[in-house]
Amino acid sequence: MTSHKIVLLEGDGIGPEITSITRKILELLFKKHNIPITFEEKAFGGKAIENFGNPLPEETLNACKESDAVLLAAIGDTKFDNLPRESRPETGLLKLRSELKLFSNIRPVKIREALIESSSLKKEIVKNVDLTVVRELTGGIYFGQPKGRINTKEGGERAFNTMTYTSHEIDRIAEIAFDLAKTRRKKVCSIDKANVLDVSQLWRERVIEIGSKYKNIELTHQYIDNAAMQLVRSPSQFDVILTSNLFGDIISDEAAMLTGSIGMLPSASLGSGNPGLFEPVHGSAPDIAGEDKANPIAMILSAAMMLKIALKEVEAALDLETAVDKALAKGFRTIDLISHPSHKPCGCNEMGERVIQELEAIK
Ligand code: IPM
Ligand code: MN
Repeated sequence: MTSHKIVLLEGDGIGPEITSITRKILELLFKKHNIPITFEEKAFGGKAIENFGNPLPEETLNACKESDAVLLAAIGDTKFDNLPRESRPETGLLKLRSELKLFSNIRPVKIREALIESSSLKKEIVKNVDLTVVRELTGGIYFGQPKGRINTKEGGERAFNTMTYTSHEIDRIAEIAFDLAKTRRKKVCSIDKANVLDVSQLWRERVIEIGSKYKNIELTHQYIDNAAMQLVRSPSQFDVILTSNLFGDIISDEAAMLTGSIGMLPSASLGSGNPGLFEPVHGSAPDIAGEDKANPIAMILSAAMMLKIALKEVEAALDLETAVDKALAKGFRTIDLISHPSHKPCGCNEMGERVIQELEAIK
C-alpha cells in the first residue's frame, strides 16, 4: 500500500500547540487503522516571513502541490499588521488557496450534543442546528482587480477593492452546494446582496439557473444582512448555505458561535484535482499563544474531514469524531467551552490526551 503524504502547516500563534497534539492523535489513529502515512512539516505564515522573507515559500508550495492533503493550523500575528499587504501572513494563505485552485470552502456547523449548553444562544434555538456553509474561496472581493491604494490630487489617499464574479465561478460553486444538499436535507439558501450589488445580481441569476437543474432541491435566497439576523433568530432553518468569499467569511464566524465556540469549527477547502487544504475556521489567537489554553478540537475535526474527504479513510474519521464526543461527554473542556461548574477544565494538550484515551478505548 502506498503511503499517504500529508503536509502539516503549523503556522503562527496557537498553531504549534494544536498541531503537535493533532499530529500525535493522527499517528495513533493511523497505527490503529493500519494506514501508512508520512508527515512533512513546512514553514508557512508569519514564521516563514521571519525565516524566509515570504509567507508561502516556494518549497512549501511545491510540497503542498505534491501531497495527498494539507493540514493547516492557523496563521497571522498582530506584529505583521503594518507590513505591506504582499508580505503579510494572510497573503500567503490566499496565495496557497489560489495556487491549489481551492474554490470551495466547506464549513459544517453541527451542534455536538455535549455542548448544547455552551452556546451563547438558548438551548431551544440551537438544539437542531446542522448546517453547512459553502463559501466560494478563490474569487470575489478577496481577489478582484483592480485593488490598491493611490494618492489623490487633493492630498489624502484612496483605497479600493473590487467585488467581482464571473458566471463560471458562480456556476461551479453553486453546483457544489446543490450536490451537497442532495446528500442532506435538500435545501440551499443562497446569500447575497442583490438589492444593492451588481455582482450579487449575477450571483442570484446564475444560482437560480443552476438550481433549476436540481429538481428536488429547495432553493431560497436571503440578503446577507437578513441572513446574519436569521442565523441567530432561527438557525435550524438552514441546511446548505451557499455564499461568496467575503459573506461566507463573516457568516461562518457567526455560525461558529452557535456551536459554543469558534474553537470547534473545522473546514475543508477543495478544488477539482489538487490536494485539499483542511483548516480550522478560527485564527491564530496570538493573545493566548504558548499558554496551553487553546481548543484543539477544530483542528482535530479538520483532520477528520481530511481523513474522510482526501484519504477516504472513513472509518478512522468516524473513530476520531466519536472520541472527541466522548471526551466532551465526560466533561473535559478547554476554557472557551466551560459553561457549568461540573466541567473539568483542561489545557490544549490535556484535551488532546483525553481524545487519545477515548480512541484507545474504541475497539
Ligand atoms: C478564514 C480566515 C482567513 C479568511 C484569513 C486568515 C485570510 O479568516 O479562513 O476564515 O479571511 O479567509
Ligand atoms: Mn474568517
